[in-house]
Amino acid sequence: MEKLITEEEIKKRVKELGTEITNDYSGTVPVFIGVLKGVLCFLPDLLRNVSLTVEMDLVNVSFYHGKKKPGMPFLEREIAMDIKNRHVILVDDILDTGNTLRFLTQRIKKKKPADLSICILLKKEKQREIEIHADYIGFSIPDKFVVGYGLDYQERFRNLPFIGIMD
Ligand code: IMP
Ligand code: MG
Repeated sequence: MEKLITEEEIKKRVKELGTEITNDYSGTVPVFIGVLKGVLCFLPDLLRNVSLTVEMDLVNVSFYHGKKKPGMPFLEREIAMDIKNRHVILVDDILDTGNTLRFLTQRIKKKKPADLSICILLKKEKQREIEIHADYIGFSIPDKFVVGYGLDYQERFRNLPFIGIMD
């Protein structure tokens, strides 16, 4: 497997993102909403670098199979917290097609947060039909399939401390 981003580079960048969020949200108690399972490594590392009082929730997005609504996203785990009038930061592992984040931002906006920003570890450099603006981006990467640091291939490799390109 080819290493794309080392453990040290991830650590440094996550710390920078935490500092940025700390400055931007100073004086507030933001709510972080993490998307399972890919955010498993990124979210806790990020939160440890945010020097604010924070709250946190997790969601789990799945996609319908079969005839009824194939490919349509749905929430396997709902947002349990009341986020009305709260400052929400949606955290995901990677922006690929933008499907997941579009679905989630629409869902979250219906709950009337004070504001919503998006924080992603990785953004694939590619043409996207769905335009998603991410406010915090760890790394822009080539349009390749990557694993490690929470990202999987068929549920494996999430535990790699670096990010690698699958061959
Ligand atoms: P979307 O295509 O932007 O909706 O991304 C959906 C999800 O697919 C992401 O949250 C990841 O969990 C997964 N995904 C997309 N690209 C990769 C990849 O290169 N490696 C591992 N998972 C990926
Ligand atoms: Mg994901």
